[in-house]
Amino acid sequence: MTPLPNAVASQTLAREVEHAIAASRHITATDLFALAADVYGGTLAEGAFTPRDAYDAAELGLHLHLLRLGPVGDDPAAALAEVERLSTLLPTQTRRTVEQNDFQQFSTPAAYAGLCAWVSGVGEGCRVLEPSAGTGALCTFALASGATIHANELSGRRADLLAVLLEEAGQDPSRTLTRENADHLDAILPLEARADVVLMNPPFSQTAGRLGTRRVPTVGTDHVLQALRRLDTGGRLVAVLSAAVQRGKPTHQAFFQALDADPFRLRADVEVGGAVYRPYGTSVRTRVLVVDREMEGKAADGEGRVEAAVESVNEAADALAPTFVG
Ligand SMILES: C[S@@+](CC[C@H](N)C(=O)[O-])C[C@H]1O[C@@H](n2cnc3c(N)ncnc32)[C@H](O)[C@@H]1O
Repeated sequence: MTPLPNAVASQTLAREVEHAIAASRHITATDLFALAADVYGGTLAEGAFTPRDAYDAAELGLHLHLLRLGPVGDDPAAALAEVERLSTLLPTQTRRTVEQNDFQQFSTPAAYAGLCAWVSGVGEGCRVLEPSAGTGALCTFALASGATIHANELSGRRADLLAVLLEEAGQDPSRTLTRENADHLDAILPLEARADVVLMNPPFSQTAGRLGTRRVPTVGTDHVLQALRRLDTGGRLVAVLSAAVQRGKPTHQAFFQALDADPFRLRADVEVGGAVYRPYGTSVRTRVLVVDREMEGKAADGEGRVEAAVESVNEAADALAPTFVG
């Protein structure tokens, strides 16, 4: 696939950000847009790049650095605190674009992505599926743990960046990266793209412009149901969804029924406060769901399920650790 026009410049910018992060150097929004003007050959005002180009390249820079730090490991509190420290070296994403709104390109905050990967138990030899992988926050921690990934991302601009991350981890994006609409992922993906672990943070309620700006509250849950079809027995799915996805709502009744039905078992449902996403330009409250696929006929009821509402990634880790540690 031929990369989009700004792809090479975005990669250059990502590398500059990666070096700054490795040196623990703060990058303000002014710094980022100045660096971007150099690599894109013109300013933001001149239209040489969009804020999203610059923010996404900066995210890739962070992810490239995190890839080298390795997986979350046995001390999640310390590891996630370090990820948080590195993330705060980047500027808050205050400027929105139409594409960002339509595709809900609010990337998974890096520490939150680290938490999801840790809860999933992903490790060496696991086959991971990420259906809407963005600039690869969730992929980063899976790749760092030695897993192989099938990543999908509908935005060609973001998929070009993701390809850089996959290559950096020794994967071949021509085989492991698709650019499909995850609404129909199960019907589209190659048959061999099956997973031991699914890590996902689908769009919360937008349809990538297909239905204009109309909110569709089942977009994220539809993506989860598609991904569950690719999860093998013994596997685990960890999804970050809007907190508005609630068991008690008629709109989401069928979704939770599916998660409660054999062979699936909903292991955790933790609501997380909106401050977590603030650096990414939104304050959406989210819900992290952990779903296991068990042997047919063996899926237990909701006994032992972790249910909590917390405000931070650290508190979510505390709520989940007693059940998922080890
Ligand atoms: C909330 S972001 C999460 C990104 C990613 N999971 C991460 O680790 O940062 C949602 C992503 O889904 C992509 N997207 C939106 N609609 C999509 C669709 N219908 N199919 C596949 N990807 C989609 C967006 O471009 C965006 O990158």
